[in-house]
Amino acid sequence: MGLRRLALFASGGGSNFEAILRGWQEGIHPLEPVALVADRRAPVLDKARDAGIEARFFGKSCWSQEAPGAPELLHWLQELHVDAVALAGFLRKVPPLLVEAYRGRMVNIHPALLPSFGGAGMYGHFVHEAVWKAGCRVSGATVHLVDEVYDRGPILLQEAVALQAEDGPEAIAARVLEAEHRVYSQALALLAGGVIIQEGRVIPCPESR
Ligand code: GAR
Repeated sequence: MGLRRLALFASGGGSNFEAILRGWQEGIHPLEPVALVADRRAPVLDKARDAGIEARFFGKSCWSQEAPGAPELLHWLQELHVDAVALAGFLRKVPPLLVEAYRGRMVNIHPALLPSFGGAGMYGHFVHEAVWKAGCRVSGATVHLVDEVYDRGPILLQEAVALQAEDGPEAIAARVLEAEHRVYSQALALLAGGVIIQEGRVIPCPESR
């Protein structure tokens, strides 16, 4: 059975959400955005509703250690027949119940070239400040499958971005965000085509090549 229906989880402005929606409309990937989950009352909720996508806020009970609200969230995704999940600027840890339910079908975007500059506390501007402090001349965007550990799952696709010596954290963030918007739809096309994991590496299914 192919993957067709996509839920997006987001925490903020939602530019990756918009890029993924555009990617579907332009036929870059086949995963139709049908649900948006936000962990805060963020602008992305209205953007989704304006696009005719079911959008719901799920509060702390879904993201705390025990996550007592996770079954309700999973039930909502199942009711909407969601096949795959894309974390698009989502800043919470996904509860194990959901990771398990969507294993191999849940992806995240990270604004650096993993495995560098990832892990707990490494999100948004913290990532770009660390890249800048390290004096990197290259950064980029990584789309990876989600497992139980922050930013650790197998890498699906990356796009590297050359940095200029005079780039500060904000300039780095802007360059990387452009790459994120390109690479996310390409990664979803790859996922929808079918992938297998061998020794922690993502390989396209032979029949999808
Ligand atoms: C993006 O740069 C995304 O990679 C980052 O938050 C930003 C959200 O922007 N995510 C993380 O740092 C997760 N570790 P957006 O709301 O405009 O898509």
